Amino acid sequence: MSDQQLTSDARAYHLIDVNGIPLADHIAKDFEDVSAFCPDPSDVLIASFPKSGTTWTVEVVDQLFHNGDAELCKRAPITTRCAFLEASTRIREEKGLDLLKRMDPPRLIKTHLPLQLVPQGFFQNKCKIIYVARNPKDTVVSNFYFEQINMTTPETGTWEAFLDYFMNGEMEWGCWYDHVKGYWEGREKCNIFYLFYEDMKEDPRREVVRLMKYLDLSLSDEVIDRVVAQTSFKEMRDNPMANYSVFPKDIYDTSNFKFMRKGLVGDWQNHFTAEQAATFDLDCQKRMGPVDIPFRALL
Ligand code: A3P
Repeated sequence: MSDQQLTSDARAYHLIDVNGIPLADHIAKDFEDVSAFCPDPSDVLIASFPKSGTTWTVEVVDQLFHNGDAELCKRAPITTRCAFLEASTRIREEKGLDLLKRMDPPRLIKTHLPLQLVPQGFFQNKCKIIYVARNPKDTVVSNFYFEQINMTTPETGTWEAFLDYFMNGEMEWGCWYDHVKGYWEGREKCNIFYLFYEDMKEDPRREVVRLMKYLDLSLSDEVIDRVVAQTSFKEMRDNPMANYSVFPKDIYDTSNFKFMRKGLVGDWQNHFTAEQAATFDLDCQKRMGPVDIPFRALL
């Protein structure tokens, strides 16, 4: 399918199996190039299942790299400050790989690929990798709203249908359960910093300091405080360079819902019925198997 056809029918879209993972056709077609990408050892990869707090983490890391300089961190929209590795021109002005060519290391690179599809160069060059994970119930709710903003994917359907879709692992970038488990199991071997959204919410300063140390940075208390303040939900929601409002409406239509929607832990309680929560919990237990990732806010 050509980009031209995609433009004329913006919501036409299908998923293609790439090594067992459903990827959007426009991403799958360039997957070999993405796989061959070789980062600089100083590049930092921020990985996640969509809607887990990726943008928040990227903003924190960009601010840490720029000494909490607010103006410098407003030099460009977050999607230009951090390259979305596998992004095609369907969802970005230029491909992630092309943007990377214009950036100087150390570069911030975002991906939603599961660990097994991350280009080998990241491991060979021992790049720092941050994985951000969020409890599955809030993740599915956030995805449900994002899909209503996202004009490049098919109509979202009902909440009930969307919940099934998530539980069946049919979503783009694969099954959530496998995604979080893959990075969890690989975290020691690949020196992955496994960050929880709920920990960031509980004590952002503590998590920002942990991130700073992982990145081998040493910033003053004053700078750390500034980074924490400047990356609060409210600050990011009102910052056009962080809140995705610069995107054209035919990509992200934020008339009804914003990208920075609520930024809360436990919003799932406003969406799941008691029955849905019980079914979900049981299924989740089965799908996680013996892998015990300390997710919070599940109950
Ligand atoms: P909600 O839809 O629950 O509000 P991602 O960046 O991975 O797409 O994740 C988006 C989710 O992270 C959205 O969740 C968004 O509001 C939330 N988020 C973004 N920045 C945040 C911040 N500074 N503090 C708390 N949540 C934030």
